[in-house]
Amino acid sequence: MTPFGPPSGRLAIFPGSFDPLTNGHVDIILRSAHLFERIIVAILLNAEKQPLFTPDERAAIIREVFRAYPNVEVDTFDGLLVDYARRRRASALVRGLRAVSDFEYEFQMALMNRHLEPTLETVFMMPAEQYTYLSSRLIKEVFTLGGDVRGLVPSAVEQALKKKQEVKVQ
Ligand code: PNS
Repeated sequence: MTPFGPPSGRLAIFPGSFDPLTNGHVDIILRSAHLFERIIVAILLNAEKQPLFTPDERAAIIREVFRAYPNVEVDTFDGLLVDYARRRRASALVRGLRAVSDFEYEFQMALMNRHLEPTLETVFMMPAEQYTYLSSRLIKEVFTLGGDVRGLVPSAVEQALKKKQEVKVQ
């Protein structure tokens, strides 16, 4: 039993940096929203030294994308993910698995989180095939170098990226 009480129903956390949200993330969030009563998209604060979007900007974008989904909540967290999950009384963590290359890192993280909090399950989901090569890092790189990211990110992200570019040019 944790000091915060038993986990409530089927609340899951989808943690990440989301700098920026990609259509691969959207795919996993939608699948989770079908499976769990409630899903919290939890943005890690201070993950990167030089993020493209601030955590508040990322949260605003994700809220906009999922505004029609009342069971999708967006939040930020700092410190250990398991501590945040205990505070929110979540019963599961959701992570996307795109390819075998993701496996080792995800396996380590899942087992470390299980060591820290044995009652918290990590659930892996596969995104749709067309998103298996997508990552926030590649989106940033392609966009920064003038490539087209249409169809790879939600339109709210595309607009936010364009705004960032306009600010840079000014
Ligand atoms: O989108 P990312 O960068 O792959 O997400 C990684 C994230 C945020 C899930 C991971 O870095 C994390 O949980 N950080 C919080 C600190 C923590 O709990 N570290 C121990 C994890 S085993």
